[in-house]
Amino acid sequence: MSAEANGSSAAATTAGGSLQSICYERGSLRLLDQRKLPLETVYLDVKDSTDGWTAIRDMVVRGAPAIAIAAALSLAVEVWNLDFNGTSEDASSLLIKKLEYLVSSRPTAVNLSDAVEKLRSLVLKTVETATEAKTVFQAYIDAAETMLIDDVASNKAIGFHGAKHLRSNLDSLEKISVLTHCNTGSLATAGYGTALGVIRALRSEGFLEKAFCTETRPFNQGSRLTAFELVHDRIPATLIADSAVAALMKAGCVNAVIVGADRIAANGDTANKIGTYNVALSAFHHGIQFYVAAPITSIDLSISSGEQIVIEERSAKELLHSDGGRGKQVAASGISVWNPAFDVTPARLITAIITEKGVIIKKASDEAFDIKGFIENA
Ligand code: MRU
Repeated sequence: MSAEANGSSAAATTAGGSLQSICYERGSLRLLDQRKLPLETVYLDVKDSTDGWTAIRDMVVRGAPAIAIAAALSLAVEVWNLDFNGTSEDASSLLIKKLEYLVSSRPTAVNLSDAVEKLRSLVLKTVETATEAKTVFQAYIDAAETMLIDDVASNKAIGFHGAKHLRSNLDSLEKISVLTHCNTGSLATAGYGTALGVIRALRSEGFLEKAFCTETRPFNQGSRLTAFELVHDRIPATLIADSAVAALMKAGCVNAVIVGADRIAANGDTANKIGTYNVALSAFHHGIQFYVAAPITSIDLSISSGEQIVIEERSAKELLHSDGGRGKQVAASGISVWNPAFDVTPARLITAIITEKGVIIKKASDEAFDIKGFIENA
């Protein structure tokens, strides 16, 4: 990515003190290079959709909502700065071609394809009546900017609904301790976070005893990013190895698990960071409630179950070398590697799904959620 050379150090926070992975103003997009956290705070300039694609593929920006927004905005910046002499139809073709390219950057998070599909429809609708290219570009830019703004509001609503639900479900406890996996906070979204947003809301309501975060190997989103956010917000928290989850639960230290999602099938099966399924199995065994917190844009009603979810496989280097592939070799030369980035937790292991529109529940005896019914009535 050409943007690498343009990296500049800056505090990773807004004036209000919250962490910010996506810094956007019209014509300019800078992404916090999450590969360098927590030791270095470097923002990379993203000038166009090619930079956007590379930033997503190389994990400069990651987390399902964040990659969708970064993709949309990278193209917004490109067309804002474009010296374009074509017709409105030419503008529409250009946008659609670049959107198709952006969606190929990572396959599992449905937020990216959902955003691309919504933007594609908007472009096609706009070009029906637009007489100038700039009208089509402006409609695209406005819609991409709205995605950035809407995400924070959606995350705050997830936090509100989640905290309310957990408080009433665990009302025999004065405070609760929550385990989370991967990073679902401000860094993985436009701000505040999904599962980490619920933890933030629990904390601000005085109902959080402690948060536990897993390392989340091999890319260490937990130890590098979630731990960074928890320390930044002064939330009482403890980091554990992924392999310590069952022991921690057996010791009675966890009252609930809250994780995010990359794609939720119509029955509630949920793809999330590799290791989520292990955590869910452990929670089920120990009788601990297991929640998924995600925006409606993480739901894919076009697939009936998690079996249809395409799971991204990443480079062997992430396992063979330390620091998620960026450090020195730590595994034996010649060993073969299987490195899926996500796994699918079956709906039957999930207590409820927390969205910005409310909490989707099922009877304890039910295997699946009726997500379509929930959305229709929300
Ligand atoms: O590979 P990543 O870091 O993009 O994976 C991220 C996750 O699995 C998150 O839990 C998920 O995207 C939800 S982020 C709000």
